Amino acid sequence: MGVPEHIKKEVEKLRKEIHYHNYRYYVLNDPVISDYEYDQLVKRLEELERQYPELITPDSPTQRIGEEITGEFPTVEHRIPMLSLDNTYNEEEVRDFDRRVKKLLGDEPVEYVVELKIDGVAVSLRYEKGKFVQGSTRGNGKIGDDITSNLKTIKTVPLVLLTDDPDLQNIEVRGEVYMPKHEFERMNREREEEGLPLFANPRNAAAGTLKLQDPKEVAKRGLDIFVHTVAEFPEKVKTHYEALQILKDIGFKVSPYVKLCKNIDEAIEYFNEWVDRRDSLPFEIDGMVLKVNSFDQQRRLGTTIKSPRYAIAYKFPARQATTRIKDIVLQVGRTGVVTPVAVLDPVHLSGTIVSRATLHNEDEIKRKDIRIGDWVIVEKGGEIIPKVVKVIKDKRTGEEKEFRMPEKCPVCGGKLVREEGEVAWRCINVSCPAQIKRSIQHFASRNAMDIEGLGPSLIDQLVDKGLVKDYGDLYYLDPKEVAKLERMGKKSTENLMRAIEKSKTRPLARLIFALGIRHVGIHAAGILAERFKSIDKLKEATFEELASIEGIGPIMAKSIVNFFREKKNLEVLEKLRRAGVKMEEEEKKEGVLAGKTFVFTGALSKYSRHEAQEKVIALGGKVSSSVSRNTDYVVVGENPGSKYEKAKKLGIKIINEEEFLKMIGEA
Ligand code: IVH
Repeated sequence: MGVPEHIKKEVEKLRKEIHYHNYRYYVLNDPVISDYEYDQLVKRLEELERQYPELITPDSPTQRIGEEITGEFPTVEHRIPMLSLDNTYNEEEVRDFDRRVKKLLGDEPVEYVVELKIDGVAVSLRYEKGKFVQGSTRGNGKIGDDITSNLKTIKTVPLVLLTDDPDLQNIEVRGEVYMPKHEFERMNREREEEGLPLFANPRNAAAGTLKLQDPKEVAKRGLDIFVHTVAEFPEKVKTHYEALQILKDIGFKVSPYVKLCKNIDEAIEYFNEWVDRRDSLPFEIDGMVLKVNSFDQQRRLGTTIKSPRYAIAYKFPARQATTRIKDIVLQVGRTGVVTPVAVLDPVHLSGTIVSRATLHNEDEIKRKDIRIGDWVIVEKGGEIIPKVVKVIKDKRTGEEKEFRMPEKCPVCGGKLVREEGEVAWRCINVSCPAQIKRSIQHFASRNAMDIEGLGPSLIDQLVDKGLVKDYGDLYYLDPKEVAKLERMGKKSTENLMRAIEKSKTRPLARLIFALGIRHVGIHAAGILAERFKSIDKLKEATFEELASIEGIGPIMAKSIVNFFREKKNLEVLEKLRRAGVKMEEEEKKEGVLAGKTFVFTGALSKYSRHEAQEKVIALGGKVSSSVSRNTDYVVVGENPGSKYEKAKKLGIKIINEEEFLKMIGEA
């Protein structure tokens, strides 16, 4: 039986694509797809070749170790090849790796060292008689570029080793050169000012920098390095963990985030810890590397032609992906700002499917030359909404359409204006339904009045059906009308009404934030609440008075004064007041918990943990998440955790919910 025709075609297409992307990545340093997408292509090709070995040809991308080199620098032959790592994106495959390792080792226990996978450029550094003699890029794994003079500019590359040990005088180490995030941002800012093309991410920036022919220029770019491997280690060193310590001792920069794990469960746990923690680092990582700790075991496991069998890269979900812009639509925010949004062909990104990306404003679209129909790289960073990193202009067909900002609000048809000095276009119609919806959404959000169950689709219905015209109307809703809305039953209506009722007693700072005064964030709202103690006093504050408060500033002060001048806003405030929404800080109880630190453990019945903690803070107390000798009270609810035991051990005063409520004057 021959190979089906469609498989032959698919294999051919995959090879062509992979060749192209290799060229973009390795030769031009300008990739047009994300690593994840590239890995998927290679995986698919490998899978088909495994299934139909008769299709394998010597020119398949899977059949050679690396790719073309740029040829601008002298080349270096790696005496010990620079391999790469097998990649995986899921836990099951990591466990498969562990099973494979154990099977090959005859079921011995295996320890793993888990390290950050630095997202930079792989380099090799060679030392002779303790001196740095040559540094090179990986190239195709066998032959790389000699970039010694560029690497010398990196201050963390030692020029002489800090040891006299004869076994360590002639070594070759491997590491990752990277550009710290702040350097990357600074460099891109400068490039933007100079009208130069921007780098898509710190890795491309580091690669581009190492390719520069002028070491002086390289020195300005703030590159750095982490060393993670020795090509050949002397016999006397028995483990990778030990080797890292030695590297550090003889002058190399080694990542401080390395964990020796007793087994695969611990390794996976450490990986999971970093999924959220990665953003706190000053440099980019794209996953974790798991390595068998024992060198003896490493030797016995050996390597394949491409990668060692004793290590694996466990990568984080991809943050970048390529897709096409189907359309550009406008979104109207709560202050009337009109934001252009790209409607995308849906694409997997960081574990979710993404179909929209913000384009920020008209200037940004012009700067990046984004057109409808363009192929783009989208990225999900710290923010919730993904953004467009860049346009892949090579993919243009000529059919793409330029975007023009309309003159009228797409929701209410009102006029759009762009004030001098501002980048945003704004709909100035205060009754614009889009603005009303967004402002209600903000009012009900977690950090504001925290009305549970009042989400965007319900708000859409409430506004579209005319049941509310502003957030003040929320407190006058007729439950009978609400129950008629889509996806609203008796129970959910009751819950909603209860949540609205409960929101009436939120602390003043939250109410001030919830009003949606332009420029007033949660922090400023806290300052204003502290200072004025009531909405009425805040309303009377003059511009000078406000602007003189530390943390407020003239722009915010002006905005606050303007807000309370608007007749419509005063009407809404009156609705809130009549409904019984608390509009001042409860002075009388203030400070009753001053100087006292509380720790909560177990579930309370009247309040959630979060609400109880807020009460403490509102009354001048402090909360902590762990029990120590500085704790004054441990409040114990249903099913308390280990904090309860610790409190007993330390002899801290333990109180129950009722006692706590008495203390805050609510029982
Ligand atoms: S160990 C046999 N450890 O990821 C290769 N690599 O393909 C040994 N990388 O080319 C690599 N951080 O450039 C190792 N802590 C780390 C790493 C790391 C980043 C890079 C390295 C390698 C690529 C994987």
